[in-house]
Amino acid sequence: MHNHHSALGLATALRPINPVTLVRPHAASRAARFFVEKFPGKTLYAVKANPSPELVRILWDAGVTHYDVASIGEVRMVARTLPDATLCFMHPVKAEEAIAEAYHTHGVRTFSLDTMEELEKVLRATGNATDLTLCVRLRVSSDHSKLSLASKFGVLPGEAKELLFAARQAADALGICFHVGSQAMSPDAYAEAMERVRAAIVEAAVTVDVIDVGGGFPSTYPGMEPPALEAYFETIHRAFESLPISYSAELWAEPGRALCAEYSSLIVRVEKRRGDELYINDGAYGALFDAAHIGWRFPVRLLREPDSNAKDMPFSFYGPTCDDLDHMAGPFELPADIRAGDYIEIGMLGAYGSAMRTAFNGFGSDEIVEVTDEPMASLYLDDEADTRVASNVFTL
Ligand SMILES: Cc1ncc(COP(=O)(O)O)c(C=O)c1O
Repeated sequence: MHNHHSALGLATALRPINPVTLVRPHAASRAARFFVEKFPGKTLYAVKANPSPELVRILWDAGVTHYDVASIGEVRMVARTLPDATLCFMHPVKAEEAIAEAYHTHGVRTFSLDTMEELEKVLRATGNATDLTLCVRLRVSSDHSKLSLASKFGVLPGEAKELLFAARQAADALGICFHVGSQAMSPDAYAEAMERVRAAIVEAAVTVDVIDVGGGFPSTYPGMEPPALEAYFETIHRAFESLPISYSAELWAEPGRALCAEYSSLIVRVEKRRGDELYINDGAYGALFDAAHIGWRFPVRLLREPDSNAKDMPFSFYGPTCDDLDHMAGPFELPADIRAGDYIEIGMLGAYGSAMRTAFNGFGSDEIVEVTDEPMASLYLDDEADTRVASNVFTL
């Protein structure tokens, strides 16, 4: 991997023909330290958000010791990269072979489930193990979130009694988990979900050892500026303290997006301009899936030296493939004189964007360059004690 000081420096010095993914280890490290120090419980990184071995090493070095894995591929990658990490298999529908390999080969002891069938599967695959932490996933609303996770998984709180009871009989430790949906824009999402947890515990009358509030912690994007993460942590802590659970119960969270959104961005080249439409060399089948399919507006900036004096105007993007679907409506605000051959940085793509790149139509590239400048937006910068990084002064 190459190193560079900044996105602008890289674009002007190298004039790359293909899209380039920029990574900012210091930003991921800062996010991880924030969670490790301020979340009032244990932080599990949700690996699906960005399954890069380099990133999980950075998070480990910053103090993240637990990893939420959702497939046997993720289990293997984290076990290989971080042999001492604790893995929690939090996908509620798993292949029996995946459970068996995770338990017998990789030492995984924590599994989530939302049906009796999955409970039986876990017990069969582990040979009726007696050292399991079993987390029953409750279905909760995604009303406060930008991406719903309310339909696919989770037992309805009113129907959880039997499952909680059966899991309690089988488990060494019993957990309850949920997911409020990704990019939760209000801490109320967690307060409301915790009320559902309370109702389920009261109805089942079981002892609960772990409350796992899942992911959903937001990042910041144009038009989606959430409250400070501390407000989420306070709400969760207050709700956790008032649950009818034992004093020794643990609080867990599984942030994905919030830990890695700032980790990477993308440099693209404008290949053609048609009025307010820019044809760029990455798109819906590359790192811009969310921009194309759910209309997210990521931050953008022109990388040109000297900088443009033109006023900003709204643009949409076409990606490089032959599909009409390869379209990102934006609007993306860029200088009105932007033209073919210019470079653009598209920010905040570390979560999901980078993970979903394909090589469809022969486009896309695996080029990754490490930079030391700041991400285009941050939820953590105010918190930064290291002024060397905050002021963008790169010293070796
Ligand atoms: C079980 C589970 N945990 C955590 C996450 C991470 O969510 P987020 O990136 O919104 O923090 C997801 C995302 O789909 C998930 O399914």
